[in-house]
Amino acid sequence: MDRHDMLLSPAGVDALRTALTQARFTANGIAGRLGSQATGGVARNDHRAALRATEDRDRLATLIRVFICDQTEPEPVVAAALAPLTVAEALAGGIVERHGDGLRAGVDLEPYGDDWWVLADVPASARPGRPLHAEHVLGIGGATQTLIGAAVRRPVGTALDLGTGSGVQALHLGTHARRVTATDVSERALRFAATTAALNGQDWELLRGDLVAPVAGRRFDLVVSNPPFVVGPGTTTHVYRDSGRVGDAIGAELAAAAPHLLTDGGTMQYLANWVHVTGEDWGERVTGWFAGTGLDAWVIQREVADPMAYVNLWLTDVGESADPQRMEAWLDWFDAHKVEAIGFGLVSLRRSGHEQPIIRVEDLRQRVEPPLGDRIGEWFDRQDWLRARDTDGLLAARYRAADGLQLRQEATMGDDGWAVDRQVLAMPRGLRWSEEIDPLVLALVGGADGRLPLRDQLALLAAAHDVTPDELAEAAGPIVAHLVERGLVEPVVD
Ligand SMILES: C[S@@+](CC[C@H](N)C(=O)[O-])C[C@H]1O[C@@H](n2cnc3c(N)ncnc32)[C@H](O)[C@@H]1O
Repeated sequence: MDRHDMLLSPAGVDALRTALTQARFTANGIAGRLGSQATGGVARNDHRAALRATEDRDRLATLIRVFICDQTEPEPVVAAALAPLTVAEALAGGIVERHGDGLRAGVDLEPYGDDWWVLADVPASARPGRPLHAEHVLGIGGATQTLIGAAVRRPVGTALDLGTGSGVQALHLGTHARRVTATDVSERALRFAATTAALNGQDWELLRGDLVAPVAGRRFDLVVSNPPFVVGPGTTTHVYRDSGRVGDAIGAELAAAAPHLLTDGGTMQYLANWVHVTGEDWGERVTGWFAGTGLDAWVIQREVADPMAYVNLWLTDVGESADPQRMEAWLDWFDAHKVEAIGFGLVSLRRSGHEQPIIRVEDLRQRVEPPLGDRIGEWFDRQDWLRARDTDGLLAARYRAADGLQLRQEATMGDDGWAVDRQVLAMPRGLRWSEEIDPLVLALVGGADGRLPLRDQLALLAAAHDVTPDELAEAAGPIVAHLVERGLVEPVVD
């Protein structure tokens, strides 16, 4: 491992791990101590029950009060909880800080997963009035979790986490990659990441530099990145949020870098924001990022925010919600560039090596069944299956409607009984796609029981609908390909 500076000495990290382990300061240990009601309260930032459950200050109770409930506790009690790590070393490493006549958390030290800990900075909301460090190290927030859930977790040789911050993405990569590299532009972030790695007994290569610069000329089987994707005028006040690139250019820059970063068959996944410009199709804008990359791309837009809500969110995130000048300058920039909304989503790229890459940019705002990463892996698998077949190949295959597929009908009562207005195919599982279909597609899906090749199924349908099998086959090819892509029907593999 690259011996990057850590918050503590290697012996100090060992001592901290010993303290946390002995106290059972893990997700399970804490839940066991607090019980379900107080654990639920903590998840909602309501610490009252947790404080009652930890009045008796044993080591676990003290660690919960300090690192979960953000309390100031007497030094001797904290010293006992952190031992064998000394208070002097914990103070020097910023793990705790003096406050009033006691000690409180200096970092966000979160038990994470079954038996991991992640080190990050205390969030702005916990230290009102204190300006956030310019190199603030982000804890585990919503975007972080989105990428964790969306990463395709298949065994790989090499993996890269671009913009590692606390190191949480790299921790996950360590479970399915033989070698993990993590980069960050911030030396401070790398100190946190190195400490997270060592605390959890993982071994990563840590490199400092701007985006892909530290790994120029190298290729990886999997690249993940939760970059500073926030869009705006390009000013940088906080490195975890601002890339220094104007508008949504960082999303395009990562797309352009991807072909040089990936091994054959390699996958890159990153979070991005993109602007919706008046009179412009956001999908076309984002599709343009991948032109000429030769990569398969699947972009899903998960949320859309209006500029005011967006600016408010990101100013609040750094504790600057009360700064009208910052807000006005940001909104003026959006106005000047005709930005009417900002999209948030996930980009998944794959270096498939095919001459005609698949580029799909679409809205996927519905709640999906986790983990999204499994669904993304399956989506690329289905693209491989489809790409290996021309129309004849599609017609020769047999299909089965996906397990649990539902048909939803809307109908209006008239003089002659119910008149069907709308029929919708809906998957209650997985990506939970739903889409309106016409009676022919309904018949096609209804007959997809895995027994007949599509060609024979279409011949039967053609007779019933008074069209020629050839006409039907021509129309059905793209429809079936679309249904397969979305997983609404599945090819039967013998
Ligand atoms: C949104 S945080 C993500 C942290 C962590 N990977 C996660 O998922 O929670 C973005 C990270 O990218 C780093 N970063 C910002 N600009 C960068 C750049 N130009 N090159 C590399 N890293 C950068 C920041 O220091 C920060 O750690």
